[in-house]
Amino acid sequence: MANPSMQMKVFRFLFLFLTLVPLASHVEAKVTKSVFGEMPDGSKVEIYTLEEGALKARVMTYGARLVSLEVPDRGGKTADIVLGYESLAPYTKDPKSYFGAIVGRYGNRIDHATFSLDGKRYQLPANDGVNTLHGGTTGFDKLLWQGREIPNGVELTLVSKDGDQGFPGTLTARVRYTLEAHALKIEYLATTDKDTVLNLTNHSYFNLKGEGQGDILNHMVMIPAERYTPVDSGLIPTGELAPVAGTPLDFRKATAIGARINDNFEQMRLGRGYDHNYVLNGKMGTMQEAARVVEPTSGRVLTVETTQPGVQFYSGNFLDGTLHGKHGHVYNQRTAFCLETQHFPDSPNHPKFPTSELKPGQTYHYVTVFGFSTAP
Ligand code: GLA
Repeated sequence: MANPSMQMKVFRFLFLFLTLVPLASHVEAKVTKSVFGEMPDGSKVEIYTLEEGALKARVMTYGARLVSLEVPDRGGKTADIVLGYESLAPYTKDPKSYFGAIVGRYGNRIDHATFSLDGKRYQLPANDGVNTLHGGTTGFDKLLWQGREIPNGVELTLVSKDGDQGFPGTLTARVRYTLEAHALKIEYLATTDKDTVLNLTNHSYFNLKGEGQGDILNHMVMIPAERYTPVDSGLIPTGELAPVAGTPLDFRKATAIGARINDNFEQMRLGRGYDHNYVLNGKMGTMQEAARVVEPTSGRVLTVETTQPGVQFYSGNFLDGTLHGKHGHVYNQRTAFCLETQHFPDSPNHPKFPTSELKPGQTYHYVTVFGFSTAP
């Protein structure tokens, strides 16, 4: 018979092996790559599939877009919870929805398609009335990024030349999508060779019942922000940071999206529903909760954490049934919501907003984590 100290060693080894090995392998996502389609010039668009436990995400190099995201409900049944298309062509023919895309250089609107920086005025394309939306006519959502497998995910790189859509400086942007245990992490990095402005975000449209499964009005939303940035009729911030208290924009306590969406409140009329930037309470640069959404029938719960100073809560008001998405599903108004972690819209024209300037030698770096769980 082995001596007791030998037995102890074997026991310890087995204990460590059985507890640590499953933990380590648990966060190791499987990553595979294939071709999703071809651009008109013949260049190949790749799609990366990330799998970890019950989570499965697909990310393509066109627009660095999240194409699908499979998440289990409370019974373990998975559904794809993001809007989009099954093939490349409809993505390239849809200039307005930004399904799953990384938007840039400047997410959301810039007033009258112009801003000044270091005393110089820059003119951008006006692609939303007189304003610039999501980086201009050919924003980052419409460009082909370079993909590379990294541990647990994919890194996408884009070099945007000096003057691209009117923005100064050659900018190198890197976006990393990785699967963590029960979460999708998106990390944003960028550098520039001239002073510029930058605001990258992900424009995924969520429906926690599953894409194409009706409206999102029953989803319970909690956004722990005290203030938001009111907008004018062009959805440009007025510059004010207004309290949410006493308005339909107050989500400090979990409330159904549909509960107050048609209230007779000017900001709700201007947004045609929710289309507002919330000012997160915590310190920019440190991870904080931006939102928590619970869908009562499936039990799926989405939590959003970010190092960004704001989050755009958009209730899919411009979806109007003209887009036919995955499995022929018709995407009607308010059949999805977006939670775009970001700098405030039109910051280059609002010196009092957290600065969106990026200078040579600095590294732009933000992280957003979409976490998934279920509620009873
Ligand atoms: C953002 C904007 C919306 C709308 C969508 C895209 O979320 O805030 O007003 O333009 O993008 O349709």
